[in-house]
Amino acid sequence: MRTLEDLDVEGKRVLVRVDFNVPLDGDGNITDDARIRGALPTLKELREKGARLVLMSHLGRPKGGPDPKFSLEPAVERLSDLLGTEVTLAPDLDDVPEGDVVMLENVRFHEGETKNDPELAKRYAALADVYVNDAFGSAHRAHASTEAVAHLLPSAAGRLLEREVATLRGILDEPKRPLIAVVGGAKVTDKIGVLDAFLDQADEILIGGAMCFPFFKAQGHEVGNSLCEEEGIEPAGRVLRAGVDKVHLPVDLVAGQEFKADTPTQAIDGVDVPEGWMGLDIGPSTAERYADIIKDAETVFWNGPMGAFELAPFAEGTRVVAEAVAVTAATTVVGGGDSAAALKQFGYADMVDHVSTGGGASLELVEGKPLPGVEALS
Ligand code: 3PG
Ligand code: MG
Repeated sequence: MRTLEDLDVEGKRVLVRVDFNVPLDGDGNITDDARIRGALPTLKELREKGARLVLMSHLGRPKGGPDPKFSLEPAVERLSDLLGTEVTLAPDLDDVPEGDVVMLENVRFHEGETKNDPELAKRYAALADVYVNDAFGSAHRAHASTEAVAHLLPSAAGRLLEREVATLRGILDEPKRPLIAVVGGAKVTDKIGVLDAFLDQADEILIGGAMCFPFFKAQGHEVGNSLCEEEGIEPAGRVLRAGVDKVHLPVDLVAGQEFKADTPTQAIDGVDVPEGWMGLDIGPSTAERYADIIKDAETVFWNGPMGAFELAPFAEGTRVVAEAVAVTAATTVVGGGDSAAALKQFGYADMVDHVSTGGGASLELVEGKPLPGVEALS
């Protein structure tokens, strides 16, 4: 993969694809600016080397043209603050103002963006002399701003993309052992590629979250009203058979009657969930076991919460695991999305070695899938 070392940017206009697809609250305020901060090293380096920047990103999934709800305005404001320089938002691709740092409006306002349209890519390319992709979070998308345009200009990866790829590939390539994978979240089918990769590579796999229930069902347990993905049962059974020596499942649970904070709760010693109840967190014995295994690791990869951590009565399992990941001496890598949000919620975000800015992209990379945005820079 070409990097900034391979690109001459002095005095040039550089088109930089960033991933400023940040979460916004109902009033349009950014609730987590990690992705904007993550791009700063690249943007600063390019400016120090004398480049003028034309930035582009998507935000959300707008359908059918421009929609103020999906404007990059809030991201532009935050970036101006963080860079300490004026960033101009350019709503019209055919009338982009001059300026040291200009940001195009949401690329998904153009119909061709998600279709990887070569004509749209040409319009992007016409705006600059060289192209840098620092949008790791979007590297699994073959879109006009991440893929097609990379072939039209001299191109390279930015520092964030470079670091993400090196770190995540490093997990599976030559990890210090033991390598522990902690995999949670709602669905087995979302994580099956990662589970398969870790069945090969990891020393232990710790499973939590609602994706436990297809495993329990495959083992013949009662799951009550727990979220239990039907299509996950068969792959879960297969993972269990392939990983008898390394797959760990919860041994106790915390259950609630409904998916809300003020529901009645009960601790279950064991994993059979009674009728009328749903498992919403791993129990304390499980959390302690998992924390023990993480303590003795040399490398830890964590993706997906252990339970409904956004509801206080069901947050403890995820908190204990997050704390173990934070304090272990092992090299720790956390996939983006919910696990990153959990780390932040519990105040441990600064205590892990690498928090990925990509959710889907980090999973696909760990699964060993080629990422179109990365391939285009090779
Ligand atoms: C993400 O947040 O997953 C990336 O920014 C990609 O967004 P998408 O899933 O809408 O393509
Ligand atoms: Mg996504």
